[in-house]
Amino acid sequence: MKTILITGGAGFIGSHVVRRMVNRYPETHFVNFDKLTYAGNLETLADVESKANYSFFKGDICSEADLKEVFSKFDISDVIHLAAESHVDRSISGPMDFVLANVVGTVNLMNVCRANWSDLSKHIFYQISTDEVYGSLGVEGLFEETTSYDPRSPYSASKASSDHFVRAYHHTYGLNIRISNCSNNYGSHQFPEKLIPLMIHNAVEGKDLPIYGDGLNIRDWLWVEDHASAIDLIFHEGRDGETYNIGGLNEWTNLDLIKRLSEIIDQRLGREKGETIKQIKFIKDRAGHDRRYAIDASKLEQELKWKPSITFEEGLEKTVDWYLDNQDWVKNVISGEYQTYYEKQYNS
Ligand code: NAD
Ligand code: TYD
Repeated sequence: MKTILITGGAGFIGSHVVRRMVNRYPETHFVNFDKLTYAGNLETLADVESKANYSFFKGDICSEADLKEVFSKFDISDVIHLAAESHVDRSISGPMDFVLANVVGTVNLMNVCRANWSDLSKHIFYQISTDEVYGSLGVEGLFEETTSYDPRSPYSASKASSDHFVRAYHHTYGLNIRISNCSNNYGSHQFPEKLIPLMIHNAVEGKDLPIYGDGLNIRDWLWVEDHASAIDLIFHEGRDGETYNIGGLNEWTNLDLIKRLSEIIDQRLGREKGETIKQIKFIKDRAGHDRRYAIDASKLEQELKWKPSITFEEGLEKTVDWYLDNQDWVKNVISGEYQTYYEKQYNS
């Protein structure tokens, strides 16, 4: 049985990738390798845990010993690499954690792959990256696979750096790589420090809905399950050395998005129309806040026939419903150090 290592499988996107792969490919064994930081949660994968083709290994990609152990325990043929520090605001207050997890961790992981794989061209190393490496757009234009890297936050600089290392290992050592750069994901099981789940949680709790700056920054939203289907396609059918952009062609200003979310929440909670929106509070802008991200996903659509499965309207309603139905999950994941982070980020 072939064994694939998925790093960061206990996180938001990783858990959707793990679930999809384990269910779709029963003849392949998937090992979820995750450090279980504040952002990782095994409760998220409770429905997958008992599957015969799934294993969990608690480990840190920065630890050579942990990686050596997982490679000695399992005959790993390929890697889908999602483990990372992922929140821009945390990268602003503490960049070094991002250098360590995202840059050092990725290089360490590829070195252990090199030590274990005699012919690197026969093993896939798939790096999951972000559109934020391309920088910030003005009112016009889209990020293409050929757009030059121009990272502007410590988070995107760390992801860009790790992408460069992945490409360098392809050119230097012949590692069979794929890289995909996707836009902002949304859906179930996202840690409530990110915009959409934070707003849903605060709306329900009657707290402020904190909008950075003028609220006119634009993000291109991607349904997380559509991202997982793209990862599946790129892993199985993508070409060695290639980059694929993944996005929903789905641009919203933060303000419009929060207005739409507020309408759904009013309706779901039986509040008067316009009630939730009163919770909006404009606060100090994020340092270096990128203005606009938008993806051209035509390469993926044409070459691998990928397309999004649902509209943003549908996805947003499903997301609100999931958070309303799973408030215990939210309470559990925010019960630890998140309270301290939240106080510092929003109340100091
Ligand atoms: P997340 O923060 O929800 O989850 C990250 C996971 O990685 C967690 O389970 C955490 O425990 C694990 N992890 C962190 N450091 C680790 C380490 N040193 N060793 C092992 N495991 C470690 O992140 P996410 O939103 O699911 O993002 C997954 C990947 O997708 C990341 O590489 C991120 O850069 C990329 N990405 C995310 C988005 C998005 O909108 N969320 C967009 C573009 C790209
Ligand atoms: P976020 O979810 O942090 O993703 P990213 O920074 O990777 O795009 O933020 C999405 C957008 O929402 C971004 O423009 C910043 C904005 N934002 C707020 O206005 N208020 C908030 O409390 C947060 C977390 C984000």
